[in-house]
Amino acid sequence: MLELNDIHTFYGPIEALKGITLKVNQGEIVCLIGNNGAGKSTTLMAISGILKPKAGTISFIGSDISDMPPHSIVERGISHVPEGRRIFPRLTVKENLEMGAYTVGSRTNKNKKLKSQFDKVYEMFPVLRERERQMGGTLSGGEQQMLAISRALMSEPKLLLLDEPSLGLAPIIVSRIFKAIQEINQEGVTILLVEQNAHAALNLSGRGYVLENGRIKMHGQGKELLNSEEVKKAYLGE
Ligand SMILES: Nc1ncnc2c1ncn2[C@@H]1O[C@H](COP(=O)(O)OP(=O)(O)OP(=O)(O)O)[C@@H](O)[C@H]1O
Ligand SMILES: [Mg+2]
Repeated sequence: MLELNDIHTFYGPIEALKGITLKVNQGEIVCLIGNNGAGKSTTLMAISGILKPKAGTISFIGSDISDMPPHSIVERGISHVPEGRRIFPRLTVKENLEMGAYTVGSRTNKNKKLKSQFDKVYEMFPVLRERERQMGGTLSGGEQQMLAISRALMSEPKLLLLDEPSLGLAPIIVSRIFKAIQEINQEGVTILLVEQNAHAALNLSGRGYVLENGRIKMHGQGKELLNSEEVKKAYLGE
């Protein structure tokens, strides 16, 4: 479904990605783990078109998306939940969700389509329906993460990019979020997940890639990586 081939990305003179090659098959949950500064967020930004690679290609369902602007990439079916959530604090929950749905439906069926999208995300996170009229910025951290994920789902993505959805959340909320990720996947959305919480992420994922210093250091089945001595020592604190 998604293929990155030898991606190189720079911030000014700094080469953040030094040749990333990876693929995600339809229906998978794939995780990217690695230490701070390894290039995980940069990889997601390259895929969603926020940061254009200097070299290499990215293809998605048979099309080269490397040179496409971010909005065209959203239209093709990739949605990105950035690190730190970045919801609109001064818009209501409902307005935040509407912002995620700007590509949804044609002029004639937009309202009907929107309603069914709202129903879907409210079913997954009922608390958002309760807080529909509340300003995004007044939600708790966990609720903001649920809103950020829901906003990304409003465009009916085929592939969802999630950047550290568990960051800074209480364990009980983290398990709620991970359960939601599983549900989203079961409904047919392919997922590329970046996580510091390597244990939980590898448990959830079919496959994983370990990034180090802008390169892929290892990749394999989630279970394989969980049992690898190297991964245990460096990323699982065992
Ligand atoms: N806006 C920027 N300007 C300059 N360098 C940057 C910028 N953003 C990231 N970098 C550098 O690029 C490298 C990769 O950063 P990236 O944010 O992708 O890492 P990460 O794996 O997501 O880390 P973290 O776990 O801390 O979120 C780091 O060395 C970082 O310092
Ligand atoms: Mg990051």
